[in-house]
Amino acid sequence: MSAPIQHPLDDPQVDPFEIASQAAAEIAERTGVASHDIALTLGSGWGKAADLIGATTATVQASEIIGFSTPALAGHVGTLRSIELPNGKRALVIGARTHFYEGHGVRRVVHSVRTAAAAGVKTMILTNGAGGIRETWKPGTPVLISDHINLTGASPLEGATFIDLTDLYSSRLREIARSVDPSLDEGVYCQFRGPQYETPAEVQMAKSFGGHIVGMSTALEAIAARQAGMEILGMSLITNLAAGIQKTPLSHAEVLEAGKNAEAVIGDLLARIVVEL
Ligand code: HPA
Repeated sequence: MSAPIQHPLDDPQVDPFEIASQAAAEIAERTGVASHDIALTLGSGWGKAADLIGATTATVQASEIIGFSTPALAGHVGTLRSIELPNGKRALVIGARTHFYEGHGVRRVVHSVRTAAAAGVKTMILTNGAGGIRETWKPGTPVLISDHINLTGASPLEGATFIDLTDLYSSRLREIARSVDPSLDEGVYCQFRGPQYETPAEVQMAKSFGGHIVGMSTALEAIAARQAGMEILGMSLITNLAAGIQKTPLSHAEVLEAGKNAEAVIGDLLARIVVEL
């Protein structure tokens, strides 16, 4: 006899969209909110935004919802929050991200995005902490993602699913973000598999490819969000200059520290952007 399958998304026979629908139904029941308008995935440094964007009406442990995994990382809260925005819209805040480097497969990585779509969400905000290639970006700088380069070799799409990724990170939503903060710069996000940080040579490769930001999330999620028909706003908090651009070694502690120092400012920024979307 084969070992029992522990996680529903690990069973290749299972339709991941069916699991996402079930998860959305569970969230609707647990939050009392039948449909959400906006979802936000909050990466390193962005967590404070959840407290600033509106009134939390329900908090659910993500691990209690079908398809979600227990967060691998301290600093990732592991909750789903339903928040009523000042404009009356309903936001679903996803504080539980499954990273590709955890090795559980792409279906689990994009489950939260597919669940958001099944929950009615039309606007998906993806945030992360990342390394900056542009030397003018000091740690603590928030930047808009204008496009991405997916260096993971993976995709959330299965089979011959040919999907257009033009304007993946909506220029309309970037415009709105810039109307809130005209100083916001933008750049191309390169998703590496991780979990090791990049080598300086890899950073130079990303730069020569046209990349400006290096990180370990977001691109796969954005592809799934586009497949689900949502409009996407992507934002990176530059927590450090990328390897070799900064002359000192990178450390996770430094990344967390930069996130902590910036969280009030970027949380406030995101709160001001969200009500305009
Ligand atoms: N590279 C990849 N991921 C990151 C970095 C980095 O420099 N900083 C924070 N997350």
